[in-house]
Amino acid sequence: MERTILELKNVSKYFPGIKALDGVDFKIRTGEVHALIGENGAGKSTLVKILTGIHQPRTGSIILDGKEVEFKTPLISQAAGIAAIHQEATMFPELTVTENIYMGHHLGKSPFGILDWRQMKKSTKGLLENLELAIQPDALVKNLSVAQRHMVEIVKALSMDARIVIMDEPTSSLSLKEIEHLYKIIRRLKAEERAIVFISHKFEDIYEIADSFTVFRDGKKSGEGVVAATELDDIVNMMVGRSIKHMFPKSDVEIGKEILKVENLSRTGIFKDVSFVLHRGEILGFFGLVGAGRSEVMQTIFGIEQGTGGRVSLKGRDIHISTPQDAINSGMVYIP
Ligand SMILES: Nc1ncnc2c1ncn2[C@@H]1O[C@H](COP(=O)(O)OP(=O)(O)OP(=O)(O)O)[C@@H](O)[C@H]1O
Ligand SMILES: [Mg+2]
Repeated sequence: MERTILELKNVSKYFPGIKALDGVDFKIRTGEVHALIGENGAGKSTLVKILTGIHQPRTGSIILDGKEVEFKTPLISQAAGIAAIHQEATMFPELTVTENIYMGHHLGKSPFGILDWRQMKKSTKGLLENLELAIQPDALVKNLSVAQRHMVEIVKALSMDARIVIMDEPTSSLSLKEIEHLYKIIRRLKAEERAIVFISHKFEDIYEIADSFTVFRDGKKSGEGVVAATELDDIVNMMVGRSIKHMFPKSDVEIGKEILKVENLSRTGIFKDVSFVLHRGEILGFFGLVGAGRSEVMQTIFGIEQGTGGRVSLKGRDIHISTPQDAINSGMVYIP
C-alpha cells in the first residue's frame, strides 16, 4: 500500500536578496514517482539540497515516517534513506566506479578501519548487473559517458538501499535509448516500493514516468495533482502563471509561396531521406529527443557539415551549399 513517507511543511530558505523557497509544502508517497516541476530558479534544487542535508531550512519542518526530523548534515539524511542524483556532477572522476559508489559509506571488516574492497567490488558488480549496466567496477569515472555516470549515481543510491531517490534533471543530456533504460530502472525502483522524486523540464518525461506532481513558481508552491488527470496546459499555467496561449499568442499570418525545399537529404550514418518544404510566413518546428538528428539536419543545410545525398532548393532554384558562407550569401542564418 502506498503511504506518505516524507512531508515538508511550510519550508523556507533564503539566500541574500532571494527567497529561494517561501513557505512550501511537499509530500511524497512510497511506490510513486513524484515530479517536481518549475521554471529555472523556481527553487527545485534548493528543495533537493534541504532534503539531503546540504542546506538547512530557515522555517518549517521535515516529517519522515510521521516523525519530525532534522537533516543537519548530508550523512544524517543519507542514514535516513535519502539519496540524490544532483544536477551538477558530484563524483570523483579520478576514482573508480566502486570507490565512488562506496564513498562515504565504505564497507569495513575490522575494528581497525581496514576496508573490505573485495566485498565492495563484489556488491558493485552485482548492482551493476542487476540493472543490466555494462560498466566495470574498476573503470575510472572520468572514462564513462554522461549517461553511465548518471547510472553509477543511481547504483550508489541503491548501494545505500535508499528508500527515497531524488533525481534532479536526469534526462537533460541523455539520448533516447539511455532515457528508456533510465525509465526502466525508475519503474523497477517504484515496484520495490521506493519513492522517487523526479525533476525535469521535459513534459515528455513527466507524462511518461511520473504519477503525481508538485509545481513551484518563484519559490512558492503553485500547484499539485495527479499527472494522468491533468492537462499539459494546466501544468504550464501553474509553472508560469499564464497559459501557453497567452504567452505565445499566435498571430495570423498568411502562409505564402514555397521558399526552401529539402528533398531526400541524407548524411550516411547520421540521417536519411529528410524532406520538407518551408513557406513564406511559416514557422516550422522539428521535434525529437537528444540524438534524433535535428541539429545535424540543420547544420547540413547550413553547410557546417556535408550531406551525402539529396537536394536543397531556394525559391525554386537548386542551390549547393558547401560552407556556412554560401548559406549566408543565399540569405540564411543559423542560430545554434
Ligand atoms: N547557494 C546559493 N546562493 C545564492 N542563491 C542561490 C543559491 N542556490 C540557489 N540560489 C538562488 O535560489 C533560487 C532558486 O534556485 P534553484 O537552484 O533551487 O532553482 P531550480 O528550480 O533548481 O532551477 P533550475 O531549473 O535552473 O535548476 C534562484 O534564484 C537561485 O539563483
Ligand atoms: Mg535546479
